[in-house]
Amino acid sequence: MSTVQTVTSFYASEGIRARLEKSLEESGLAQAPIEWSKLAMADQFHAGGLEATRAVGAALAPEKGGRVLDVGSGFGGAARFLAATYGCHVAGVDLTPDYVEIASYLSDRTGLAEANSFQIGSALELPHADAQFDGALTQHVGMNIADKQRFYDEVYRVLKPGAKFAVFDVVATSDEPLSYPMPWAARAEDSFIVQPDAIQAALIKAGFVGVVSEDKTGMALEGFAQMARVMQSPGPQSSLNLAALLGGGSRQAFQNLGASLAEGKTRAQLFVAQKPEVADVS
Ligand SMILES: C[S@@+](CC[C@H](N)C(=O)[O-])C[C@H]1O[C@@H](n2cnc3c(N)ncnc32)[C@H](O)[C@@H]1O
Repeated sequence: MSTVQTVTSFYASEGIRARLEKSLEESGLAQAPIEWSKLAMADQFHAGGLEATRAVGAALAPEKGGRVLDVGSGFGGAARFLAATYGCHVAGVDLTPDYVEIASYLSDRTGLAEANSFQIGSALELPHADAQFDGALTQHVGMNIADKQRFYDEVYRVLKPGAKFAVFDVVATSDEPLSYPMPWAARAEDSFIVQPDAIQAALIKAGFVGVVSEDKTGMALEGFAQMARVMQSPGPQSSLNLAALLGGGSRQAFQNLGASLAEGKTRAQLFVAQKPEVADVS
């Protein structure tokens, strides 16, 4: 199986659209329009949920009308948050066709279709011309990509000079094996989690400057606790959550990630880097 097939067959989840419709109905959101924040327990497919996306938004601080790229945009939760909060346009690109379809559907239902666009594509071959974007983000995608250098080279290529790039990923703290499934891979063989130095080095090699990195593990653990509280609460909103949407073995994967973060085997790490204002031609 190619890496693309491994990734898309892992994320493509039989019946996901039907589960989404059912959750929206049970939560009283079957009729348009939906307020974007009501989706936050289901459409933020990364540790720390909406709070992590807020941190990414604060790091990028996109200008009203600016163009931001979300690489591996999933269900489009970050795109909706950024468009609604900052008034920017967000273009999402993702390998998994079902996710691109759901992202477009939810942006439509939240009245953000004009501020968001989603297309199928690879982080390793972005379907965009050079120097198009005022900022870029990627959340919990790098663990699916072996060739991080090519990934970051591609993001560098499509950013305008001076634009910022935020990477929010799970990183390993040692070579010690992790328990799988994880939310990004069923097996260790399909996981490309690395230690933070490797991400930092690849960003610098791509040409980014001013790379800073921050440990967001506390925020990630609070996100897991909040998810557990929502799933246990009896209210109608409790059925609209990420585990219900993903179905299958997702609960075990979230448990494994939560345990690895709590034990210090992994960390949730935010990196922010900038394409230089003037390209280095040396
Ligand atoms: C864990 S989900 C995160 C989704 C989203 N970033 C979020 O935080 O809500 C990982 C996403 O990355 C996408 N992905 C994985 N490898 C990719 C690649 N090489 N190019 C584009 N998207 C990719 C998957 O299809 C999936 O939607």
